[in-house]
Amino acid sequence: MTQQNKAQLSQFIYDIEAIIRKYAMESDILQRAKPLLEELLRSPNSISQESFKPRKDRFANNLIYLPDDKIFSVIGGVFLPGQATPIHDHFTWALIGIYEGEERESYYRRIDDGSNPKVAVIKKTGERINKKGHVTVLGKAGIHCIENVSDIPSLSVHIYGLDIGNTQRNTYNPVTGEIGNFISRYDSILRNLRTG
Ligand SMILES: [Fe+2]
Repeated sequence: MTQQNKAQLSQFIYDIEAIIRKYAMESDILQRAKPLLEELLRSPNSISQESFKPRKDRFANNLIYLPDDKIFSVIGGVFLPGQATPIHDHFTWALIGIYEGEERESYYRRIDDGSNPKVAVIKKTGERINKKGHVTVLGKAGIHCIENVSDIPSLSVHIYGLDIGNTQRNTYNPVTGEIGNFISRYDSILRNLRTG
């Protein structure tokens, strides 16, 4: 990664952080942050390969940036061919941009009243193939799953409105309705990209 690439990534994180600290409303943040992520995805070599370290057993979440007060996180995601997430939520807004490869993303909506913490009724609302440069925008209520449907690793950059790796979240079984809990953690933590 060149000094120029590092400077670009530092500037991206600086600009994203400024938006998040300035605006309280999810829609204001998402509308302003999305074009910055699209620009980063278009720039060759803007993200180092160490941000996209895969895992053999499941998709990997590598932490690119987390401020001290943990109000947002920037992640490098990697799915090897065939790897997929369960259907899950985030407890916050999310921006997910494809850096390389192709992912199938399915969207869901909870259609019960949300009163039972163990069972949910969800409905699939859409599906699409996301290619390089695409940015998915999810609000706090967003539920989805992602699968690498290509024969090369898919690499993506994610921004979330909290410390996503240390947040307890839900998975949803579309057949039984069962809600599961998980904490994703981080697989690799890159500490020096903001200032390096
Ligand atoms: Fe997700």
